[in-house]
Amino acid sequence: MAVKKVLQYGEKTLREPSKEVHKVSRKITDLVQDLLDTMYAKNGVGLAAPQIGVNLRVFVIDVSTNEEPLKPFVFINPKIIKKSGAIACDEGCLSFPEAFTKAKRYKYVMVKALDANGRPFVMEAFDGSLLARAIQHENDHLDGILFIDRCANRFEAENVLKENNLPPLDPEKLINDPEIDKELEQDSADD
Ligand code: NI
Repeated sequence: MAVKKVLQYGEKTLREPSKEVHKVSRKITDLVQDLLDTMYAKNGVGLAAPQIGVNLRVFVIDVSTNEEPLKPFVFINPKIIKKSGAIACDEGCLSFPEAFTKAKRYKYVMVKALDANGRPFVMEAFDGSLLARAIQHENDHLDGILFIDRCANRFEAENVLKENNLPPLDPEKLINDPEIDKELEQDSADD
């Protein structure tokens, strides 16, 4: 398959909700391969279909390290079915080159999805791991949500976007998740 162009922040497609996949056909397996080829070419940890201009509910993740090589994970029609805890960590996105800022995420998620062969699976990711955060980040892409919408520090996010000549935050897109905010407050009170 092929390395595709990654759409950059500001492109409308990134803000559009993606549609469910009805059948894991050849078209979908080709899409999965394009996502993997493009993610590896750009040294990303994950990539969602809207980022290559396809509004379908598909994303890929590879959290391998040199010490721990893993297979890439393919998620088709994913649903986060359990979530808990909260963490704020630096995040980036291939649609925002060079721009990193802290985003608020759940520490734990359980996700169900179909794999590249159309077989259902359930995966858990714990402790605010890279995998846990990547699942939430990529899943958000399918709903037109971007990591800056979940920024932990609005001022810092605004500056990072400006420094990288990217469009500003869209205040109407900012997400307030009271459950996460409460957890983060408790964590900082415990410190
Ligand atoms: Ni992203």
